[in-house]
Amino acid sequence: MFRVLARDLAVDLGTANTLIYEKGTGVVLDEPSIVALKQDGPRRDIVAIGAEAKEMLGRTPEGVKVIRPIRTGVIADFEVAGLMLREFIGRARKKARALFKPRVIVGVPSGITEVEKRAIRDSIEGEAREVKLIDEAMAAAIGCGLPVTEATASLIVDIGGGTTDIAVISLKDIVHSVSVRRGGDAMDEAIINHMRRRHHLLIGEATAELIKKTIGSAHSDYDNQEMEVRGRSLTSGSPAALVVTGEEIREATAEVVNTICASIRQALENTPPELSGDIIESGIMLAGGGALLKGLDRRVHEELGIEVKVAEDPLCAVVEGAGKVLDNTELYKDVWFQA
Ligand SMILES: Nc1ncnc2c1ncn2[C@@H]1O[C@H](COP(=O)(O)OP(=O)(O)OP(=O)(O)O)[C@@H](O)[C@H]1O
Ligand SMILES: [Mg+2]
Repeated sequence: MFRVLARDLAVDLGTANTLIYEKGTGVVLDEPSIVALKQDGPRRDIVAIGAEAKEMLGRTPEGVKVIRPIRTGVIADFEVAGLMLREFIGRARKKARALFKPRVIVGVPSGITEVEKRAIRDSIEGEAREVKLIDEAMAAAIGCGLPVTEATASLIVDIGGGTTDIAVISLKDIVHSVSVRRGGDAMDEAIINHMRRRHHLLIGEATAELIKKTIGSAHSDYDNQEMEVRGRSLTSGSPAALVVTGEEIREATAEVVNTICASIRQALENTPPELSGDIIESGIMLAGGGALLKGLDRRVHEELGIEVKVAEDPLCAVVEGAGKVLDNTELYKDVWFQA
């Protein structure tokens, strides 16, 4: 039976989702960055990882904890993050059935510390022949097809679960970048708080995310949408349901959206004039799951007066960009750094 020697992998280890791209094949794994653990004294046994663990969120049996090892873009729990990453790479390798270990390129936030870099490398050393890191904003820009190797500036905004990363890129270099620890998770939290304060209704993270995706928006165009929300009444303690509007959800999440808009403005103000001229011409590219928030493109356009585009597949931009780097190592040879 024919077996390939090795299949190189690109990994987007995100706060919300982990994706793996296999060279020559495409995206082979797409799972929530979530782990369910059974805590028994100092011992921690894995119960489930990925989609299976996400389903357990908010409804776990006693003794089982569901955790997200990466919070606000930084590794909050090294041990569990390592276990999760190793398991995902192991799954991707099993599918590939290659003879040798792959070379692996991992997308990381620009503010990553040496300790975090080492943790990533150490956790996958057993599964990889070589580990390289690439700045997530650079990967997202490449994934969106922006001309990063050319002498013209591009502006990429990657709105993830934990962070929003904004970068101006020209000639394979990040000329200027801004990273804020606000993204989709902060919107979910704002919705939970709003439901508690305004409606005395307790809802979980999964429900908050569903509300955001269904009727959440960044523009008043979507204010008339409605949806029924179920939770637990804080006054009676019993299950309760009520109808919420797009307008109140937009208002509840406005602070996060305003911060994102202000950060893009700040990035533009700190960009050298010749480069901002390029951006006015080429526009702003939105990527990451947060780019799917309804009306965000319109809102950013109205605030900044610059054309705004949304990536074709915002959730896959980083992993596809890192994958393109694998597919074309000659063209992109200066965009990664050794772990
Ligand atoms: N249709 C949608 N509308 C609004 N938000 C969405 C939509 N779909 C996904 N999201 C949000 O996008 C976020 C996940 O995006 P993404 O997978 O890009 O993040 P990540 O890469 O895991 O996080 P980070 O880059 O911060 O580490 C979540 O907060 C999710 O709720
Ligand atoms: Mg991301």
